[in-house]
Amino acid sequence: MTDPKLKVLISAERIQARIRELGEQISADYPTGRLQMICILKGACFFMTDLARAMKRDVFLDFMGISTYGKGKTSSGEVKVTKDLDISLEDADVVIVEDIVDSGVTLNYLMHLLEQRRPKSIRIAALLDKPERRLRPVHVSYVGFQIPDRFVVGYGLDFDERYRNLDDICVLDEE
Ligand code: IMP
Ligand code: MG
Repeated sequence: MTDPKLKVLISAERIQARIRELGEQISADYPTGRLQMICILKGACFFMTDLARAMKRDVFLDFMGISTYGKGKTSSGEVKVTKDLDISLEDADVVIVEDIVDSGVTLNYLMHLLEQRRPKSIRIAALLDKPERRLRPVHVSYVGFQIPDRFVVGYGLDFDERYRNLDDICVLDEE
């Protein structure tokens, strides 16, 4: 896709190399037990499928739909569950798989929600982290890349539902 508004920030090669490292690290941290990965739709779907294949052990996969952002680039600040999990989390080691942590509103809410379902443990893996933007505290155990405060698209991330299928993560400039 050649689009003058897009500038590559993290190439597909770097994304894939980092995900292989994360897969090895997470696998080593959970040598045994039932490991439940939860993909936050839709942005994390590419990350989840690559991360699951980079794991050195058996994992269970499930999906959860959350919406915070309306159209465009600003958060509504409101979190809504649009699709709940199919499975119980009781006694499972849970890893929430998210595309990006921005204000932290989504993951802060989600951690509280899922902790009530009595998992054995719960951690967060996020491909991208924009620490400068944090409004709510969130502890992210596994971070792919820390990025500056720029709006990015690709590899699952969208702007008004566009650009999700780019291989690279790109900055979207609209001047
Ligand atoms: P938070 O609740 O503010 O941390 O927002 C997290 C959600 O906002 C992510 O799951 C993304 O869907 C969206 N988001 C935040 N920053 C970006 C960005 O730079 N590009 C695309 N989506 C983003
Ligand atoms: Mg999202």
